[in-house]
Amino acid sequence: MRNFSYQNPTKIIFGKNTISELANEVPQNAKVLLTYGGGSIKKNGVYDAVKKALDGRAVFEFGGIEPNPRYETCIKTLDIIKKEGIDFLLAVGGGSVLDGTKFIALAAKYQGADPWDFMCGKANSPSEAIALASVLTLPATGSESNANFVISRDSTQEKFGGWSPLIYPKFSILDPETTYTLPEKQTANGIVDTFVHTMEQYLTHPEYAPLQERWAESILTTLIELGREGIEEPKNYDVRSALMWSATMALNGLISRGVPEDWTTHGIGHELTAFYGLDHGQTLAVVMPGLWRNQFEKKKAKLAQYGHRVWGLLSKKPGQEGHDEVAVLAIEKTEEFFEFLGVPTKLSAYGVNAAEAAEKISKRFEARGLTSEKGLGENGCIGPKEIKEILESR
Ligand code: NZQ
Ligand code: ZN
Repeated sequence: MRNFSYQNPTKIIFGKNTISELANEVPQNAKVLLTYGGGSIKKNGVYDAVKKALDGRAVFEFGGIEPNPRYETCIKTLDIIKKEGIDFLLAVGGGSVLDGTKFIALAAKYQGADPWDFMCGKANSPSEAIALASVLTLPATGSESNANFVISRDSTQEKFGGWSPLIYPKFSILDPETTYTLPEKQTANGIVDTFVHTMEQYLTHPEYAPLQERWAESILTTLIELGREGIEEPKNYDVRSALMWSATMALNGLISRGVPEDWTTHGIGHELTAFYGLDHGQTLAVVMPGLWRNQFEKKKAKLAQYGHRVWGLLSKKPGQEGHDEVAVLAIEKTEEFFEFLGVPTKLSAYGVNAAEAAEKISKRFEARGLTSEKGLGENGCIGPKEIKEILESR
């Protein structure tokens, strides 16, 4: 097993009626900025529950953080933060609200001229951040328990991820009942996102990490067993709670310790969102099967293991007759699963021309200096040429 360090400072408060815990968790004298999205929390009672729990505290509000949170929107908060002396951010919503709030927490402390500079790599991330916490309403990103954030900029059609240990939420409240009102599409996107996060820390090449592999396989199996039920029975508490905990566990930094990772699907997926506006989960359903076929020789041993342990296909050792067939079948099963959830796996289903997207996106990676020798993936061998092939095949 590879060397690693592990630390996750976020406290998770999980279960029914836990929003009331805000009264104990938010510092008494904090000047709070409550951030939220397009209004779902006002329709489903989450906003009222949050306000009730924060009664008596100084609370300011900023709504309108959109899916794939925009830099242009988030920086609008900087004036109110300065004017009111805000020292605590409470994000209430899905991954986009959480990510936007993480960016705000850093941007408010940034000394340079334009906070975009630390998103696009022109400047270092700030060395301070405003404290933040979250009430999660959409299980998918793991943002409630990690230090990642992804921000889009409209004017340049760019979408960049960032990481800073300063923006781990102090705590996150996960009440599965808040997810009852999710539209089917968002539940399905969240399941695909969780599935792909798990895969990107699992589907590489064999290395000795039996516990981490079983953790990953247990998340995948849970999603396959419960995914469709989560969509069809939106108010099934048990299913909602299992899906919510799966999403957190898939990207809180635990399952990746000591194992190789391949974040190519996310890398290409972000560009599909930036150029064509696809939902995050949709991009992943499109890209991952294409990546696996493109990198089949390097990934087939792990694909066959996944096929056997998660889909119950025949166990075959590398080199044994039928091994490659199991690996091929595992890719097909995955595509079928995404389609079964209602998330199409081909670009044409989203009205995107695959050849055009392949050209545009591979050029962008080329301009950023990516090559087949110094590229994405666990072997660093996915460059513009491979990215073009992957997208052309979708
Ligand atoms: O904006 P509102 O009105 O709240 O509606 C949202 C939004 O329209 C709605 N929604 C959320 N909770 C709801 C609800 N509707 C009804 N009932 C509820 N309980 O769902 C829509 C989508 O929300 P969004 O937050 O955009 O979805 P998600 O959580 O999938 O977040 C996607 C963003 O997270 C980034 C993605 O790139 C994308 O920008 N990611 C963040 C990661 C991280 N921080 O670690 C990792 C991920 O790989 C991902 O890249
Ligand atoms: Zn994701």
